[in-house]
Amino acid sequence: MNDAAFGAATSGPDHPRVGGSGSVPAMFRRPRALRDPVTFTLDGETISAERGEPIALALLGDDKTILARSPKLHRPRGPSCLRGGCDGCLARVDGVPNVMTCQKPAQGGEVVVSQNVIGSRKADLMRVTDWFFAQGIDHHHLMAGIPGLSDVMQTFARKVAGLGRLPSEVLAVKPARRIEFDVAVVGAGLAGIVIASRAAAAGFTVVLVDDGITIGGSLLAAPTHLAETLAAYPMDGVEIHTTSVAAGYFFGDLLVAAPAGAIVVRARATVFTTGAHDGVLAVPNNDLPGIFSARALARVLHAGIMPDGPVAIVGDGFWADEVVSALAEHASLRFAAADVIAAHGTAGVKTLEVRDGKTTRKADVGAVALALRGAPTFELAEQAGATTRFDPAGGYAVVTGEGGRLGETTWAAGECTGTPFNPWVIRAEAETVAESLLSALSPR
Ligand code: FES
Repeated sequence: MNDAAFGAATSGPDHPRVGGSGSVPAMFRRPRALRDPVTFTLDGETISAERGEPIALALLGDDKTILARSPKLHRPRGPSCLRGGCDGCLARVDGVPNVMTCQKPAQGGEVVVSQNVIGSRKADLMRVTDWFFAQGIDHHHLMAGIPGLSDVMQTFARKVAGLGRLPSEVLAVKPARRIEFDVAVVGAGLAGIVIASRAAAAGFTVVLVDDGITIGGSLLAAPTHLAETLAAYPMDGVEIHTTSVAAGYFFGDLLVAAPAGAIVVRARATVFTTGAHDGVLAVPNNDLPGIFSARALARVLHAGIMPDGPVAIVGDGFWADEVVSALAEHASLRFAAADVIAAHGTAGVKTLEVRDGKTTRKADVGAVALALRGAPTFELAEQAGATTRFDPAGGYAVVTGEGGRLGETTWAAGECTGTPFNPWVIRAEAETVAESLLSALSPR
């Protein structure tokens, strides 16, 4: 995508309007029928979902774009990453607070309740704090020292700044266990799948850990690539732990918080393929519901859920192309990140304010897809002893040696090393790391 093409609009037959009044509401709909429907409730309203899909995705398909409220200022929040990396989808599910509903599969019967609101998700009375304190609020010093008012203010501040209420029931203590493998791979995206598959095919015992509902990582937003990858790199012989968070690495032990309890993994080789956080746009109102990372919006679109208005794609690269392809005939606009001045809307994004030559204009949008450079998820590898380097374009990244090596028993590959997402590049890099790993472990 060259700069000359940015700002060009394509208009599908059902969404011909672009640019101007700001009257297009941010709405989503899922025109196609569900294959295996289940139902759950959101604040008492029945919602239909595809069995096993993330609850947040089902809510978007039912046009529930505001799922949460930010602490303190109570700004509306909606899903923006669909990978457990933001706070846009937090809700109380079956009595448990602060559940990331993008990481919780809909099985049917769940009771989902919006939290952190006085009133409703859409009309939270505490939203006034954002208007009263447009420059931000320092609740530590607000009315501090004023007799009487100080205590009232502190009580109030605790209520508005908290997030969720305690669980309805005391959760049972779950047992911890230890397991031993030849290879532990953290992150079940493209790089993790390639390396785990290669190691298992070579006869090593392999465990693959991921916090997502299923394996696939970013490729869940590019289903054709995911299918091709799993066909080329089958998971036979790999022990897979999904919905499991690799929470720490201590002296060769990997601590995993799994649904059934903690698991301590001791492996001869540990590979970090932890991916990257989605890039964000530093402009006013960049947190409005309806603004997604391009990879998150690609996943929404591939689930058959369409915004009721043009999609503004900001930036370029693989995920921008994937959004374009998933949109098919639906209207889209392209902008360079440097040209975006602000987002506007109240309950969700309605317009993008952009530079247009020497003037500015507002473009009506139904959703925004940010195809920007991600920030490598380096933290776990760093805890395992990796060094990092700072790249102004993408943040800190893991520094690897030859063959992706970090140390005697550790390796890293993929986006966490600073490689921008491109399936062909990541796959080739993962193959190199797999070769290095296998030669280090062999002969058995
Ligand atoms: S954490 Fe669920 S959408 Fe970002």
